Amino acid sequence: MLSPCYTHVLLIISCIIFFFSAISFIKRIQIHSNLTQPTQILSVYDNHHSQNQFSSYTTIINKNHLNTSDEQINERFLNKKVLALNKTYNSILDRLTFINPPKSICIYPKHTQNFIVFIVLSRALNFDFRQAIRATWGRNGKYKQYNIHVQTIFFVGTDDSVQSAIRLEQSLFNDVVEVVIPENYPFVAHKELASLFWTRLYCPLARLIFRADDDILLDTFLLLDYIKNHLNINTQDGLHGWFRFNNTVHRADKWAITKIEYKPKIYPPYTFGIGYLFSNVSCQRLVNAANRPKHQVIRVGDAYITGILRDLARIPYYDFQNLEYAYTFYNPISCDIFFEDKPQLLLCMSKLHVGIRDDPFEFYDVWNIILTKHHTSLSNAT
Ligand SMILES: *[C@@H]1O[C@H](CO)[C@@H](O)[C@H](O)[C@H]1NC(C)=O
Ligand SMILES: *[C@@H]1O[C@H](CO)[C@@H](O)[C@H](O)[C@H]1NC(C)=O
Ligand SMILES: *[C@@H]1O[C@H](CO)[C@@H](O)[C@H](O)[C@H]1NC(C)=O
Ligand SMILES: *[C@@H]1O[C@H](CO)[C@@H](O)[C@H](O)[C@H]1NC(C)=O
Repeated sequence: MLSPCYTHVLLIISCIIFFFSAISFIKRIQIHSNLTQPTQILSVYDNHHSQNQFSSYTTIINKNHLNTSDEQINERFLNKKVLALNKTYNSILDRLTFINPPKSICIYPKHTQNFIVFIVLSRALNFDFRQAIRATWGRNGKYKQYNIHVQTIFFVGTDDSVQSAIRLEQSLFNDVVEVVIPENYPFVAHKELASLFWTRLYCPLARLIFRADDDILLDTFLLLDYIKNHLNINTQDGLHGWFRFNNTVHRADKWAITKIEYKPKIYPPYTFGIGYLFSNVSCQRLVNAANRPKHQVIRVGDAYITGILRDLARIPYYDFQNLEYAYTFYNPISCDIFFEDKPQLLLCMSKLHVGIRDDPFEFYDVWNIILTKHHTSLSNAT
C-alpha cells in the first residue's frame, strides 16, 4: 500500500522537479548560449565522417567541453568493441549520438545474470510520467522474491524547449539518456535503435532487456515471475512478445512506407514495441544487423525492430505464454478494473496513450492495485 506519507514524499519530489524545471527554463531564456550543466557527448567513431544532419547541434554541445579527448578515446574503444571492428562507412550507427553522463547508470549486482534493464522510450516533456514510473512499475532495485535487479533507463529525444530541464533531471536521477534525434514520430524507429545501441555500449552485461514506453502500465511482478518461472533465455534466446503474422505493408496512410524504403508486401512477424523481452546477446545481434552499409531504418518502429531487423539478424521469436495485454488506440481503457480482474494481464495502455495528458495519478492507482494483487507492499517489494 502507498502510505499517505509516501504520497507526500512523492508530491514533494515532483514539486522540486517542477521548481528546478521552471528555474532552468527561465535561466535558459536569460543566458541562452551558456549551458553550464556538465555534459558528455558520445559519437560513433568520428563525427566528421558522417554526413550528419544533426552535426550543427553536436558542435554546439562540444563547445561547452573543456577536455573530452580522454572520454572520446574510451568511447571509440567501446564502439569498436561493440561493433566488432566492423566499421562500415555510412552505417546508420554512425549517426546515433547521445548526450548524457553515460558511464554509471548500470551498476551491476554480483550476478549479472539476474540483472534486467527496462528500456523506456519517453517523450522529453513527460517529466511527470517518468517520475510516476520511477515510483511505480519502473522502481530500481532488487525484487527480493524473484532475486532480480531492475534498472529503468529512459530514452528521450531532443526538444529545445525542455533541454535544460532534462539535464537537471539527468543529474538528479541519473537514468535519462538524451538521444540526439528530434522528438517526433518519424524518428521513433531511430530512437529505438539508438536505445539498443546505447545499451550495448554502457550496459552490456545486463542479461535481460525489457522494452517499454512511458505510457504503459506494467505488472512488474508478473513479468519477473514469468522470467523466473517460465522463461529460459539460454535455450530460447530470441525476442519474446505477442507476435503478429502476415501484416501487409501500408502504402498510403499514417504508417505508409514506400516501396523504395521497403519492398516486400508483407512484414516479417513482429510484436508491439511497447513490451518485449530479449537478451543482451540478441541485442548485440540486432545492432550488428543495423551496422551494414546502406541499411535503411523503416519509420514504423515496431515492424522495423522486432520484424525487419530481427529477421535480418535471424533472431527467433517466441510468444509470451499466458500473458495478456490490453491495448487501445482511440478510447481509454479502465486499466484499474482490468488489472483487478485479469490475473495474467502484463500490461495495459494508460490514458496518456490515447492522448489524454492528465496528471499521472492513474499510474499510482493501478500500481496500488497491482501491489494488492500480489499481496505485497512497497516496503518489501524491493
Ligand atoms: C586534453 O587532454 C589531452 C590528453 O589527455 C591533453 O594532451 C591536452 O593537453 C588536454 N587539453 C587541454 C586543453 O587541457
Ligand atoms: C563483421 O561483418 C562480417 C560481414 O557482415 C561478418 O561476417 C563478421 O562476422 C563480422 N565480424 C564480427 C566480429 O562480428
Ligand atoms: C550477456 O550477459 C551475461 C550475463 O551477465 C554475460 O556473461 C555475457 O558476457 C553477456 N554477453 C554479451 C554478448 O554481452
Ligand atoms: C501467413 O501467410 C503464409 C503464406 O500465405 C501462410 O503459409 C501462413 O500460414 C500464414 N500465417 C498465419 C499465421 O496466418
